[in-house]
Amino acid sequence: MTDKPRIVVSTGAGISAESGIKTFRDADGLWENYPVMDVASADGFARNPALVHQFYNERRAALGKAMPNKAHLLLKELEDRFDVFVITQNVDDLHERAGSSNILHLHGELTKVRALDDDSLTFKLGYNEATTPETVIDGHRVRPHIVFFQEAVPMFEPAVELAATADIFVIIGTSLVVYPAAALLNYVKAGTPIYYIDPAPSRVPAGVTVIRKPATEGMEELARLLLEKYPEKD
Ligand code: OAD
Repeated sequence: MTDKPRIVVSTGAGISAESGIKTFRDADGLWENYPVMDVASADGFARNPALVHQFYNERRAALGKAMPNKAHLLLKELEDRFDVFVITQNVDDLHERAGSSNILHLHGELTKVRALDDDSLTFKLGYNEATTPETVIDGHRVRPHIVFFQEAVPMFEPAVELAATADIFVIIGTSLVVYPAAALLNYVKAGTPIYYIDPAPSRVPAGVTVIRKPATEGMEELARLLLEKYPEKD
């Protein structure tokens, strides 16, 4: 434990937009030209697993070419003055590559697949490694380590516990329409300041301070504001 104020950050696709990774709902429910429900739902995976493998193979390869942006990097820099915990809906690894110390992935990770017959068994893949429904790793057939629509979100409980410990809660680049992730802010203690960085929020919950800017600019503004509001103790 430290006596630093604790910032819990909930990030969505918008924080990675300026790294060149497309969001979901800014393009009419298409994700990289695929209907979201074909490539991100349990039904879609049951119907056409080869397509789903291929889709995440492509996303993984694209991720290898992307770089964290200033918003990811500023979250890391804030660790000098704050305890920062990131809860991300993103399946990219840009928070990891920016160096953030505490990252919880709510919706899985592109750089991993897991055994079809054992959810606890994950395997790390290189950006250019590809899988198919026939791929066998250590004797197991595998699937993308992604939480599909229609599936439970096993990391939600730990995320809720974390949200409840926030002194400051920050939301960046999520449309707040996908549950249960969108409900996280309901578990923040009453009176906790909540900031929401998004250039086009689709809804603004009561009591939330909106910074209507892209993540990089919005994070610069928020970092300045927080460093002023919580000056370093001598
Ligand atoms: P969405 O695509 O629903 O929302 C992206 C949000 O980012 C929108 O509110 C945009 O206004 C905002 N945005 C766009 N450009 C931005 C920028 N430069 N800076 C900051 N914000 C920007 O994405 P999510 O809310 O993350 O789940 O979607 C939630 C989940 O739906 C995803 O995790 C995914 C998807 O189905 C799974 O894959 C399991």
